[in-house]
Amino acid sequence: MMLWGGAFEAPTDEQVRRLNDSIGYDQRMYAEDIAGSIAYAQAIAAAGVITPQESEQIVAGLERVLREFEQGEFQFEPGDEDIHTAVERRLTEFVGAVGGKLHTGRSRNDQVATDWRLWTMHAIDRIAGQVLKLQQAILSQSEAHFETLMPGYTHMQPAQPVTAAHWLLSYFWMLARDTERLGDTRRRTAECPLGSGGLAGTPFPVDRVALAKALGFTSPTQNSLDGVSDRDFVAESLFALALVGVHLSRLAEDIIIFSNPAFGFIRLDDRYSTGSSIMPQKRNADPMELARGKAGRLIGNLTGLLTTLKGLPTSYNKDLQEDKESLLDSVDTLMGLLPVVTAVVHTLKLNSERLRQALDESMLATDLADYLVKRGMPFREAHGVSGRVVRRAAELGVSLSRVPLEDLQALSPLFEEDVAAVFDFAASAARRQALGGTAPEAVQRQWENARLWIQNQGS
Ligand code: ARG
Repeated sequence: MMLWGGAFEAPTDEQVRRLNDSIGYDQRMYAEDIAGSIAYAQAIAAAGVITPQESEQIVAGLERVLREFEQGEFQFEPGDEDIHTAVERRLTEFVGAVGGKLHTGRSRNDQVATDWRLWTMHAIDRIAGQVLKLQQAILSQSEAHFETLMPGYTHMQPAQPVTAAHWLLSYFWMLARDTERLGDTRRRTAECPLGSGGLAGTPFPVDRVALAKALGFTSPTQNSLDGVSDRDFVAESLFALALVGVHLSRLAEDIIIFSNPAFGFIRLDDRYSTGSSIMPQKRNADPMELARGKAGRLIGNLTGLLTTLKGLPTSYNKDLQEDKESLLDSVDTLMGLLPVVTAVVHTLKLNSERLRQALDESMLATDLADYLVKRGMPFREAHGVSGRVVRRAAELGVSLSRVPLEDLQALSPLFEEDVAAVFDFAASAARRQALGGTAPEAVQRQWENARLWIQNQGS
C-alpha cells in the first residue's frame, strides 16, 4: 500500500526509497501515532466528516494495531516508509476501506509534528524523573558531610576550605535548573499542530481546542505553516539535554580526579569502577569517563539539528525528518547514563581523613587578610600583607601558622597573639555563614532548601 503515487508512473528507485524511509527509528513513536489517530478519528466524527459508526470502527482497528505493537507482533511490510504509513496500512487491513477515511483533512506533516511533540513530552518526563533521582542521591550522600572539611578549588588550585556537602550540593542546583529548564521546554512543546493539514490548515470544522486537550496538549498551535515546520521544541530539548550532559561531565570529572590515588578523596564502589587487563592495581572510573565523554555527542546532536534547521524555507521540508535520530540518541544516552551516575553518587565513599590531610594552611591566606580587615586595614592592602606572609613562610620553609609573630608584626603592627586563632580550617569554614556559604549551619539550611525543592516538584 502506498499513501501517495496516484500521479506517478514509475515506482521510486530502490536506493531513494531506502534513503527516504524513516521507519527504522520513527516506529518508536507508534503509541503516540496511534493516540493521535484515535483522537483525530473522534474529532472528525464530531465535526460530521465521518459517521460515529465509522469513527468507532477506526478506533477499534487502531486499538488492535496498538495491541500488535505492544505484544511485539506487528509485522512491517516493505512499503511501510514511516510509522504513519505502517499504522494506516495495518488499520486498513483490519477495517477495510473505511480506514482510508482517517486521513481526511490531515497530512503526515501535521501528523508527524503532533506525534513527535507527544513523544518528546513523554521523553522529557522520563529524563526529569531520572534527574530527580540523581538529585536525591546527592541529597542523601551529602547529609553525612555537613562538617567534613575538604579543599575547595578554583583553577584547580587549592583555594579555601569548604565542607564536602557544600561541594556535592553545588551539583544539586545545576540539576535543579536542568529540571526546571526541561519543564519550560515541555510547556512550549505541549501545543498541538494537528489540524494544520499539509501547510494551510484543514477545510473541515475540526474543534482543534478539544482535539489538543484530548491528546494531553495545553492548546493548539496558532499558525498552520509554523505548526508543520516548527522544531524549536526539538532544539530546545536537545539543548536542555546537552546541558544535563555538561553538568554530568563536570561531576564526573570531579569524581575522576578525586578518586585518583594522588587525591584519594573518594573510593568508588567495586561495582562502579573497572580494572585494567594489564595493571592489577588499577581502579578506573570508566563509567565517569563515559559520563564526561558522552557530553560530546549530546552537544553534537544539538548543533547538528540547529544546522539542519538553519535557512530552511517556509513550512514543511523533508530535511525535518532529520529531527528524530538526534533526539532519540540524546534521550537514550541520558537514560543510560543517569541511573549509573546516580548509583555512583549513592555508593561512593568520601574519605574524611584524606580530605582533611589535603588541607594546607596556605588556604587560610584569605582568612589572614580578613583578620587584618577586622582590625581596620582596607582589604586590598590586607591582601598584599597576607601575600607577603605567604612568601615569608616559603622563605622559612614553614607553614603559615609557623611564621613567628615578630615576622608578622614586621609586616603589619596589627598582628597580635590572637592571630593564632586564624589557623583553624573548621573556623574558616564556619565563618562563611551567609546564605550560600560553606559553614555547616549554612549548608544545613541549603540542604533543607534542596529537600523542599524536591518536595515542590510533586506539586
Ligand atoms: N517521516 C516524515 C518525517 O519524519 C513524515 C512526514 C512526511 N511528509 C511528507 N510530506 N513527505 O518528517
